[in-house]
Amino acid sequence: MSKKRIFSGAQPTGRLHLGNYLGALKNWVALQDDYEAFYCVVNLHAITLPQDPATLRQATLDLARIYLAAGVDPEKATIFIQSDVHEHAELTWILSCVARMGELERMTQFKDKSQKGGRERSSVGLFIYPILMAADILLYQTDLVPVGQDQKQHLELTRDLAERFNRDFGAAFKVPEPYIPKAGASIKSLQDPAKKMSKSDENEAGSIFLLDDADTVAKKIKRAVTDSGTEITFDETRPAINNLLTIYQLVTEKSQAECVEQFAGKGYGQFKGELAEAVIEYLRPFQERISTYDDEALNTILKSGAEKAAAIASKTMLDVYQKVGIR
Ligand code: AMP
Ligand code: TRP
Repeated sequence: MSKKRIFSGAQPTGRLHLGNYLGALKNWVALQDDYEAFYCVVNLHAITLPQDPATLRQATLDLARIYLAAGVDPEKATIFIQSDVHEHAELTWILSCVARMGELERMTQFKDKSQKGGRERSSVGLFIYPILMAADILLYQTDLVPVGQDQKQHLELTRDLAERFNRDFGAAFKVPEPYIPKAGASIKSLQDPAKKMSKSDENEAGSIFLLDDADTVAKKIKRAVTDSGTEITFDETRPAINNLLTIYQLVTEKSQAECVEQFAGKGYGQFKGELAEAVIEYLRPFQERISTYDDEALNTILKSGAEKAAAIASKTMLDVYQKVGIR
C-alpha cells in the first residue's frame, strides 16, 4: 500500500522558537518515516506583511537549513521553496473564486495580524493568506497536515474549499485532516502564559529562540513567570507552570507522571535549573548541525525538492483547469 501524504510549511520570517519546534518541526521529523512528506518554506506567505527583500531571500534559505538541522531527511521527505512551484500561486487564484468574503472575514489570524496597522491598511494578500495555504495543501492531494493549534481554523477553511470545489466542479482534491499534537500544540510565552510564544512578540524574554546560546536560555527560563502556589504539576488553571512542565516533558520525552514524580516536593528554583539544562541539551545537536549545510548543498536539495513537488502539483493544476473550463 502506498504511504499517506503529509504537507506542512513555515514562514521565513523572524526567528524560529521553541514553540515552532515542539508544535511543528518535531512532528515533521517523527512523521517522515511513515508518510510521504512535503515540507515547504512558504516565502509567498511571508510577503503578506512588509519584508526587506535581501533579508527575505536569506531567511528563505536559512529556514530550509533549519528544517534539515532539525532532522528532516531529504532522502525521506521533500523539502522545497513555495515560489519554486508556480502552481501555488495559480491555484490560489482559482480558489479565490471559490472562497467567500464572509468565511475569510471570520479568520482570527487576520483579525490579529491586521490589528497593528489597521484593517484598512492591511494588504489584500494578508486577507487571502488562508487561500494560499489551502492551495499549498490541496495541490498535493494531502492526507494529513501537522500544524500547531493556531492553524486549526485555516485547516477547516481548506477542507471547506476542497469540498465546495469538488461538489461544484467534480472531484479534484483530497479533503485533508489536521494533525495537531496533544502536547505542545500551543507553547506559551515565558513572560505571559496567556499568549502563545510568537515570532512577533516584542518581548524577547518570552521566547526561547532555536539559536539562543546556553546562557541566554538559562536566563530566560530563570526569569520566566510562575504561578502562585508551590506545586509543580500539570494543571491548566496554573498556566505558567503548566507551560514550563509541558516544555520539560516534550524535550525529555518523559511521561507526565514521571515529570510530576520527579519534581514532587521540589521548589521552582530547582525545577527551573533542571528545565534549563534539558532545553539546552535538546537544542545542542540542532545548533551543531545548523552550520553543516552550505548554500551549495542546500540549493541542490531544494532544486530536487522543487522538481518532485512540481511533478505532483502540475497534475492537480491541469485537472483543476480542465474542470473549471480554462483548458
Ligand atoms: P509560523 O512560524 O507561524 O509559520 O509557524 C510554523 C509552525 O509552528 C505552524 O505549524 C504553527 O502552528 C507552529 N507554531 C507557531 N507558534 C507556536 C506555538 N507557540 N506553539 C506551538 N506551535 C506553534
Ligand atoms: N500558515 C502557516 C503558519 O503560519 C504556514 C503554512 C503555509 C502552512 N502553508 C501551509 C502550514 C500549509 C501547513 C500547511 O504557520
